Amino acid sequence: MNRRELIGNTAKFAFGVSLGSRLSTTVANVTPLARRTLAPPKTFPSKFLWGAATAAHQVEGNNINSDNWLLERAPNTMYKEPSGDACDHYHLYEQDINQLADLGFNAYRFSIEWARIEPEKGSFSRAELEHYRRMLEVCQRRGLTPLVTYSHFTLPRWFAYQGAWENPESPDLFARYCGKATTHLGDLIGYAATFNEPDIPYLFHWINLPNLPPGMDLAGVMSAQKGALRKYLNAPQFSGFLMGDAEKSRENMMVAHTKGKSAIKSAKNLPVGLTLAMEDDQPDGTNSRFAEKQADVYGPWLKLAKQDDFVGVQTYTRSRIGSKTIPPPQGAELTQMGYEFYPESLEHTVRFAAKESGVPVIVTENGVATVDDTRRVQYIQRALAGVKRCIDDGVVVQGYIHWSLLDNFEWIFGYTPKFGLIAVDRATQKRTVKPSAVTLGKIAKANSL
Ligand code: BGC
Repeated sequence: MNRRELIGNTAKFAFGVSLGSRLSTTVANVTPLARRTLAPPKTFPSKFLWGAATAAHQVEGNNINSDNWLLERAPNTMYKEPSGDACDHYHLYEQDINQLADLGFNAYRFSIEWARIEPEKGSFSRAELEHYRRMLEVCQRRGLTPLVTYSHFTLPRWFAYQGAWENPESPDLFARYCGKATTHLGDLIGYAATFNEPDIPYLFHWINLPNLPPGMDLAGVMSAQKGALRKYLNAPQFSGFLMGDAEKSRENMMVAHTKGKSAIKSAKNLPVGLTLAMEDDQPDGTNSRFAEKQADVYGPWLKLAKQDDFVGVQTYTRSRIGSKTIPPPQGAELTQMGYEFYPESLEHTVRFAAKESGVPVIVTENGVATVDDTRRVQYIQRALAGVKRCIDDGVVVQGYIHWSLLDNFEWIFGYTPKFGLIAVDRATQKRTVKPSAVTLGKIAKANSL
């Protein structure tokens, strides 16, 4: 969406809200039936993005020049299994993108892999850039707007060997990659995100994950392994996204975002933003530290996002915060990730991100890990009802991108959690469309709930 359309839509939303409130005053005394007829239509704004998302390392397979490839194979690795061939999306992208379009969607969010594009420092692979160009061409041919993430967690090995985001040179190295990639691909990209969830290292300090040593969070466990890894790899500066000094890495990533954004924009004037991992934080009790958590995890990034064209919201569940994070209530339905099944979390985080950043929101991830696809259908319907309420209240939301297109490699949990709209038999790479994909595709096609 260009600036003029954005202003136009904002005006339409504002008109809708004021009309909505006037209508509710007028109908206050009429019959419930008449009031129901005047309920906000179920239609979403025109040009609303409806999509599904993937990330290169989780679906492509054989990302051998990345840091993750090493981490998955290191002694005492936290990874349940290595990514291997993943979903072989590297070769099967055309059928996957076609399937998404056939289902009725109009957007595809995926990431380009820095470790493929720049496998050695300063040496850029034209062949790999051409690969992503072909993917983008299929999207364009099939009427799917591509939302491209430039860095979805994984890093080139050489970059990790040089200290990853702790390296003072890291912002410039990232910006150079952003510039090269955009020069080659920019004419086919719809929206660009520099980083996927750069707030995760801080978020991990607040999450209770099962099976971790007492008093340790995930980032802590990973940093504790850094020494052993450096020895094993004979790489004295080796670091990674989750392993680095959180403060130093965040500072560098914030500079990298700004520099990356200008490199992208000087190659092609695209809408650029970043995406954030967000939980619906709810205060519990009088000593709640929830405001502290929000300031710690999202605060700096939402401030930075004020200068962007959009902010990507990625939400899966809520989190109740007392003096520390409280586990889900007794008897609550849990997903395969151990998260509380709580689709309403999306509405709350969208409102929060929009208010704090002041820029349009795109839901760039939302979904549920479950083997019972009827629960995914339910999750989608409730989450979307929340997004619609935001829109009816005048919040500018430009799209809903579901995580994930495919059942894929869920990082340390391997292939066990099933987030996909489409199942993948990893022995044969055969895809099976789940009913939830059909449901969401129909909503997308109708642009209406
Ligand atoms: C990440 C994805 C991940 C998903 C589900 C998000 O944090 O961006 O890579 O698979 O959540 O856990």
